[in-house]
Amino acid sequence: MKILGIETSCDETAAAVVEDGCRILSSVVSSQVEVHHPYGGVVPELASRKHIEVIGPVVDQALAEAGVRPGDLDALAATRGPGLVGALLVGFSFARAYAYARQIPWVGVNHLEGHLNSVFLSEPVPDFPFVALLASGGHTAVYLVKSHTRAECLGQTRDDAAGEAFDKVAKMLELGYPGGAMISRLAASGDPGRFRFPRAYLDKEAFDFSFSGIKTAVKRHIETHSDYREHLADIAAGFEAAVVAVMADKLILAAEKHHCSDIALVGGVAANAALRRRVEQAAESRGMSLFVPDMKLCGDNAAMIAAAGYHYLSDPVFAGERLDADVYSRVKFID
Ligand code: KG4
Ligand code: ZN
Repeated sequence: MKILGIETSCDETAAAVVEDGCRILSSVVSSQVEVHHPYGGVVPELASRKHIEVIGPVVDQALAEAGVRPGDLDALAATRGPGLVGALLVGFSFARAYAYARQIPWVGVNHLEGHLNSVFLSEPVPDFPFVALLASGGHTAVYLVKSHTRAECLGQTRDDAAGEAFDKVAKMLELGYPGGAMISRLAASGDPGRFRFPRAYLDKEAFDFSFSGIKTAVKRHIETHSDYREHLADIAAGFEAAVVAVMADKLILAAEKHHCSDIALVGGVAANAALRRRVEQAAESRGMSLFVPDMKLCGDNAAMIAAAGYHYLSDPVFAGERLDADVYSRVKFID
């Protein structure tokens, strides 16, 4: 079964063709980084306009790269939420119209379920149930993943998402936008032990996160150290070490509590090398297996939406999407 996936929840216009929920025939991601770079963050209105401009060509490119004609498609899957409503509406309406014109099924996919399904796009794959840390620019949460379409949220951030904290700290250090990759590159040459930033474990036994305190601590450090530009790498390394430690420890603790030996890291922040390293080491010493998507599938993409869509279509709760279905901006999870 060949599914065309479409993702436009934030600042990436993406289309992909995936076969049987696991084989990627093409995956095209058109980034809007240059559009939003001057503003230091995503401007929703500009994001919607850019999606409208490029959605057609991006879909054409995905079909061409897959060697698939529109008539070969069996179904469509588009991100329904959470995300920026104006941005979501572009991909969602496009998919609905495209499927309607060709009289094929279509389904709206939860973006977070998309990220959770990204680990099924490369071999080997985890067994259900497994515990996953989803860390991106908009979300940070730990899930007990029970099936392709069912995940229980065990805990989530009470304020900023991890990627958002990376981006805000990068902005403070004048490293540019988006900042996650830049902080992590800089941190590689820094000393993580020189400056110790707070690690917010909150309730040690629970799986909620808070990243606003560490952001404030970095801000205070900058304000009180006029020479901070001379030790940017050490600040980046100290910040990264603190964020990574909390996320890794909570993921492992959740897996132990729920007796899962398979764990996963997904979302844009899963591209972080220090996080991968720390979780890998912790998993190895406990006999757990870690599953991480390919680097290019950590960030937003449409292959993960097509993969999740494949399973949604065979789930009676989601299949048979109503024509008047709408997008949603906030997290909505079905357990
Ligand atoms: O999943 P994603 O592409 O979009 C959302 O759904 O939010 O995640 C983007 C986030 C950004 O905040 C970006 O700074 C962060 O992922 N990110 C990283 C790294 N690469 C991307 N954060 C830390 N280390 C990285 N190497
Ligand atoms: Zn995402």
